[in-house]
Amino acid sequence: MIKVGIIGAGFMGSMHATVYSQLPDVKIVGIADIRGEKAKSLATKFKTIAYFDPDQLINREDVNLIDICLPTYLHKEFVIKAAEAKKDIICEKPIALTVEDANEMIKVCEKNKVRFAIAHVLRFWPEYKYLKDIYDRGAYGQLLTISMRRVSPLPTWAWQDWLLSQEKSGGALVDLHIHDTDFLLYLLKTKPKKIYTKIKRKNGLDAHVFSIFTFENGVIAEVEGGFDFPSNFPFEMSYTAKFEKATVDFNSNKSPSLIIYEHSGKIDKPVFQKIKAEGVEGNIEDLGGYFYELRYFVDHIIHNKPFQVITPEEARDSLEIVLKEKESDLKGAEIEID
Ligand SMILES: NC(=O)c1ccc[n+]([C@@H]2O[C@H](COP(=O)([O-])OP(=O)(O)OC[C@H]3O[C@@H](n4cnc5c(N)ncnc54)[C@H](O)[C@@H]3O)[C@@H](O)[C@H]2O)c1
Repeated sequence: MIKVGIIGAGFMGSMHATVYSQLPDVKIVGIADIRGEKAKSLATKFKTIAYFDPDQLINREDVNLIDICLPTYLHKEFVIKAAEAKKDIICEKPIALTVEDANEMIKVCEKNKVRFAIAHVLRFWPEYKYLKDIYDRGAYGQLLTISMRRVSPLPTWAWQDWLLSQEKSGGALVDLHIHDTDFLLYLLKTKPKKIYTKIKRKNGLDAHVFSIFTFENGVIAEVEGGFDFPSNFPFEMSYTAKFEKATVDFNSNKSPSLIIYEHSGKIDKPVFQKIKAEGVEGNIEDLGGYFYELRYFVDHIIHNKPFQVITPEEARDSLEIVLKEKESDLKGAEIEID
């Protein structure tokens, strides 16, 4: 049995708590949040103890896993605290705001011999897993091009609007668009060779990103990520992946969500089960990806198996690439990656 303490009872804290409550080998032993009422209401819902001081939960002897669902600028401080208390750690993405911080976090976890998982959920999201499987099997030949899109209304749910602060969240580039950058690195098993990025800013915040990646094997990826759309604009994640023998088209707002158009004329519409995310307050209604992700981490911690789907070093590399995208925008030029 894994005894988990959740730090942060906001959007992601409530999503993770909902998943853990459905995993038979996990017990939520406490939920901490500096907003007392948030900790209390989530702890009451999941019949556990509320903490206002996260250190008390981290240092509880019977806790073996700390799940960090805090604003990104606090990840480093709390990952280091949890590692030094010898707890295994699951931390929300992005790993950190700088590569230096990410490296320090990885080093401290290694030194304290604790497991360190970064929750890059797309790697576990059914329609993205499906694409990865098609790519790895070469089911439709080589991948030629891929367009990816992630757009959202302004995220106004966050504590003290930390998501709208460039210093605290890194804006849509580091907070939202990193999902697709990370998935591309995972899909193609390599970093891009060239990056060209344009970013539209709003009051100093990186609000809308357009990037073109060129990979060594010739794949061209075009990726858009923006979070300053009107409040009535539906959240959307989507991709169109053109292979030699078929095009795979996914859109989270369509039903069916994914259609495969083969050059032979055949059309395939695989069915993906959705799991309702009841009672969570952000922009995502499907618990599915989070469920498969946390089940994977917990299973690998219980059986002491190395994480293969995502390592902290890969999460660091994804952060490094989004920061290179920013560099391309600031230089106004395409940049080469070593
Ligand atoms: N994987 C995804 O799809 C996804 C989606 C949204 C957010 N995220 C990530 O999850 C993390 C949390 O984002 P969120 O949307 O849940 O934010 P949020 O603002 O909804 O929740 C953060 C919570 O942390 C609490 N908090 C702040 N400082 C604290 C402290 N020192 N001690 C204890 N509690 C403290 C706040 O009161 C708040 O309840 C971020 O890193 C974000 O990038 C991931």
